[in-house]
Amino acid sequence: MSSSLLATLHLISVQLFLLLYIVKTFLLLANKKMLEKMVRITKVPEMIISTVFLVTGIWLLFILGAIKMLIVIKLILVFISIPVSIVAFKKQKKLLALLSLVLILGAYGMGEAAKKKPFIPTKVEVVGNADDVAKLGIKTYIANCAMCHGKDGMKMYRDAKDLTVSGLDQSSIEILIREGTPGSWPYSKAGMPAFGKTLNEEEIIAVSAYVQTLRK
Ligand code: HEC
Repeated sequence: MSSSLLATLHLISVQLFLLLYIVKTFLLLANKKMLEKMVRITKVPEMIISTVFLVTGIWLLFILGAIKMLIVIKLILVFISIPVSIVAFKKQKKLLALLSLVLILGAYGMGEAAKKKPFIPTKVEVVGNADDVAKLGIKTYIANCAMCHGKDGMKMYRDAKDLTVSGLDQSSIEILIREGTPGSWPYSKAGMPAFGKTLNEEEIIAVSAYVQTLRK
């Protein structure tokens, strides 16, 4: 399955889950009879939605093979909120239900914020007789770009462009890397993160030169 379709499914299931969760929490606070009715009706859909949301989330992380700090925090929040919400609804504890709602909303916010942030770079050693600029370009690329564009430039994770067919020149690439692209909310493109605060000028120049060598 394509990663952008997965991402869309993930986001839709997360939003449906949130909606159900908000309504359930509201009913727990306001009207327990209605809550019991709703729980009966939504039991199966909720199971499907939460399965889709967990499976697509894990699948996306697996394809990406890299992680950001904000995503780590998001995962921690999600996995704390699950047992909290189970106990809250089983024992009908209002405060616990509110707490788990806050955790889940926080996780959603982290996910949205993570879209514009670069990944934590991995350490890369380059051996061989490339000159220093080429080495810096390769290193920077593998650590910061390959999770979306792939080592060969053709991975196209979540609508990343195929770099082997790109026609951009050196200075446009530098600007793109510095500023990123906005993407479009909510379901389509995540855009490219801005690297202006993570990479220095030398690295940006070197990696821009390097991506042009990926072309056929
Ligand atoms: C989170 C995934 C992601 C990462 C990481 C990423 N990109 Fe991108 N990249 C994209 C997306 C998505 C696009 C398409 C942007 C658009 O059209 O809005 C793109 C587009 C590009 C393009 C434009 C190609 C064209 O012809 O339009 C270049 C060049 C590029 N990226 C280089 C890089 C470099 C160099 C890095 C590392 C410093 C990098 N990217 C890191 C997702 C990513």
